[in-house]
Amino acid sequence: MHLKIAIVLAMVSSNVAYGLPGLGGNDHEFRKPGPNDYRSPCPMLNALANHGYLPRNGHNVSIDQLVNALDEALNVSPLSTRPVAELGATTSTTGNPTTLHLKDLAKHGVIEHDVSLSRNDIYFGNNLAFNPKIFAPVAKILFARDKISIETAAKARRARITAAAAANPTLNFTTSEDRFSQFESALYLGVFGTGTEGNAKSRWVEVMFREERIPYKEGFKRSAVVITNQDIVDLADKVAAAA
Ligand code: HEM
Ligand SMILES: *[C@@H]1O[C@H](CO)[C@@H](O)[C@H](O)[C@H]1NC(C)=O
Ligand SMILES: *[C@@H]1O[C@H](CO)[C@@H](O)[C@H](O)[C@H]1NC(C)=O
Repeated sequence: MHLKIAIVLAMVSSNVAYGLPGLGGNDHEFRKPGPNDYRSPCPMLNALANHGYLPRNGHNVSIDQLVNALDEALNVSPLSTRPVAELGATTSTTGNPTTLHLKDLAKHGVIEHDVSLSRNDIYFGNNLAFNPKIFAPVAKILFARDKISIETAAKARRARITAAAAANPTLNFTTSEDRFSQFESALYLGVFGTGTEGNAKSRWVEVMFREERIPYKEGFKRSAVVITNQDIVDLADKVAAAA
């Protein structure tokens, strides 16, 4: 009973006091999701839930919680994440247009698309969960060196596009979906790399994809400078140009 009240109070105060360490739940240890917890096709949102930056159960996550978690944990600009969070919320099945269940993000054709680096295409059934078979050939390219350059990121995407085109008779990869996928590469390069130069630490990116964990143990620290929308656009443009 007391625990329940404490949790409700923590949830209420987190909306008011996000970003103030010590308030709003600063329990950010890694814990795997339980059987009733929801997760998404996004490895980073899953990692944020696994660290309690987002509700660990993945239910009823608000747009503000998404934006604040990405700011608090990664220093990604709200100007960059809010539009994506708002688009994501259009997949909501919660009955409240400002919240979503993480699994709602698997709805195909909103953000979710074919040709993911680490998930299978919807045609094959599961477009949400990490898929080691899909990821293996991608990982071989991505993690061949200790840093992932922009060229390497583009090469991994190319390999996955070729493999998906060969395997999936209903492949659907529009220009805008291709652009989304460039942005997703830009995001891991921006969060785990250096400015807009790429060179993301392979081990950190691997921990995000394979364990849905933020690689604190491996030395990751929140960026000291804000990762701006322009940084992400620049990186996405470089990934596209390198293709
Ligand atoms: C509001 C913010 C965000 C939302 C709503 C969101 C949502 C999504 C969704 C729905 C996908 C699946 C796309 C697909 O079909 O592959 C995805 C993929 C991805 N997201 Fe996020 N995301 C957000 C922020 C971030 C951030 C900050 C990162 C930083 C590293 C990130 C990294 C990725 C990566 C690397 C993928 C590609 C996964 C793959 O190809 O297997 N996302 N995201
Ligand atoms: C999610 O929100 C709905 C509607 O407010 C509520 O009925 C449900 O219990 C919530 N789920 C969780 C796990 O909090
Ligand atoms: C391809 O995706 C678009 C947008 O997601 C959708 O409108 C269209 O019906 C899809 N086409 C096929 C053949 O699935």
